[in-house]
Amino acid sequence: MKFICTAAIALFTLTNLSAQQKSTITLTSQENAPTINKHIYGHFAEHLGRCIYDGFYVGENSKIPNTNGVRNDIIAALKDLGIPNLRWPGGCFADTYHWKDGIGPKDERPTMVNQWWGGVTEDNSFGTHDFLDLCETLGTEPYLAANVGSGTVQEFTDWVQYVNHSGKSPMSDLRKKNKRDKAWGVSIWGVGNEMWGCGGNMTPEYYANLFKQYSTFMSDWSNTGKLFRIASGANVADYHWTEVLMRDIPKNLIEGVALHSYSFVEWEKKGSSTNFNEEQYFTTMQTALKMEELVTKHSEIMDKYDTNKKIALIVDEWGGWYDVEEGTNPGFLYQQNTMRDAMIAGTTLNIFNNHSDRVRMANLAQTVNVLQAVILTKGDKMILTPTYHVMHLYKVHQDAKLIPLKVASPEYKFGNKTLPAISASASAKDGKTHVSLVNIHSTEKITVEINVDALKLKNITAQIVASPKLQDHNTFEKPNVIAPKDFKDFKLKNGVLSVTLPPFSVVVLEGK
Ligand code: AHR
Repeated sequence: MKFICTAAIALFTLTNLSAQQKSTITLTSQENAPTINKHIYGHFAEHLGRCIYDGFYVGENSKIPNTNGVRNDIIAALKDLGIPNLRWPGGCFADTYHWKDGIGPKDERPTMVNQWWGGVTEDNSFGTHDFLDLCETLGTEPYLAANVGSGTVQEFTDWVQYVNHSGKSPMSDLRKKNKRDKAWGVSIWGVGNEMWGCGGNMTPEYYANLFKQYSTFMSDWSNTGKLFRIASGANVADYHWTEVLMRDIPKNLIEGVALHSYSFVEWEKKGSSTNFNEEQYFTTMQTALKMEELVTKHSEIMDKYDTNKKIALIVDEWGGWYDVEEGTNPGFLYQQNTMRDAMIAGTTLNIFNNHSDRVRMANLAQTVNVLQAVILTKGDKMILTPTYHVMHLYKVHQDAKLIPLKVASPEYKFGNKTLPAISASASAKDGKTHVSLVNIHSTEKITVEINVDALKLKNITAQIVASPKLQDHNTFEKPNVIAPKDFKDFKLKNGVLSVTLPPFSVVVLEGK
């Protein structure tokens, strides 16, 4: 009995001690701080699994309410999320896609085999008009990722002319014949995708030459603005790739260099999206937090060749990658989305915000039913994932001025490995200040103290995304297990804001 009491007291003391865990955040001068480009909050929709077909697009004749074949519930959810751009049609699919197959009467379009994703045959019923009209409906900027790997310069520049030329030209005539008079005016273009892999297994030197060739012949056809040309970027920590592109491509031909990095337990042994243990959670967060080092080092290389930071670093594929859900096509990359994904989203977006001098665009992979999706669908049902809710809370940072900060964080230990438990970013816009905080610790709540005296904040409100278990997620039967809630566990005293963050939680505070 005595032992039980002693053990209980020891446990209580430990818990109490852990409740004392503190983090201090210091806000620094905003004077030369960049604006957080809204495009950091971009999304990605590939012809992969059920992202486009049986995801966004159910067809004009579907019983599911739709606008030109795109589900109305998805349109409403994405409008509410305020997505600034949408990347399409790939991914690896981009370098197999011949855009002319996806225009004109739908019943006359040729089929194609999706060689990368499940080998399925598609009928090209969702093409350029469908995508660009959808972007207009959503009020989002299209990002066309165009084919370099199996295409030609002519095919590429024809696409630019088709969507952007207002005057008389072969491609604008074709567009008009297909019942669209007005040019869409697409500015953001990806020149191939993953050219080191599925885009053609190229060396950076070879691709740099190809990029120069494609880029030279791209014209915006409108004289109203410039194209934003993005070179296919490095795979994770392939710094040589970035070095060669920055060294070999003249600055007048390029506006952005991409980077792809996913979070996972082990590439060869990804594990379940919902049934994972703490070790798997910790390892996933290790790869997610590696983004800090990746953007720092890639930016340092870019700084060497581009001191004025003209060229943007575009992380146009990021997110968690796990095994597909049981019984689903392995080539469709359909996975659930838990509080682990909320942690990936919150920490990654904080990293991007804090590096917004160079990171000026990013695309979460992918929007619907694929990888770290913000939306999942089943028949006529649709659910919003924890990642959706985090991105919704964070949308306040779009086009806001960054408030640079320094975080002194307690450690989250697992075995002999440690990670910083706390991640943060802050910004100001329209007389409001927002601070987004993430505690990735699996068991401990942490109190964060921020001296906000200089900001003279009065009315502070907050919202939280949290749940009792890391594995918690929304399902079609229980769609609101995880949703943002009002949060009150903070106080402002003598200019110091103290916020107590539960384990694995995301909190966004707003002060006026
Ligand atoms: O997002 C899924 C795939 O991941 C993309 O098609 C490819 O670019 C990357 O390897």
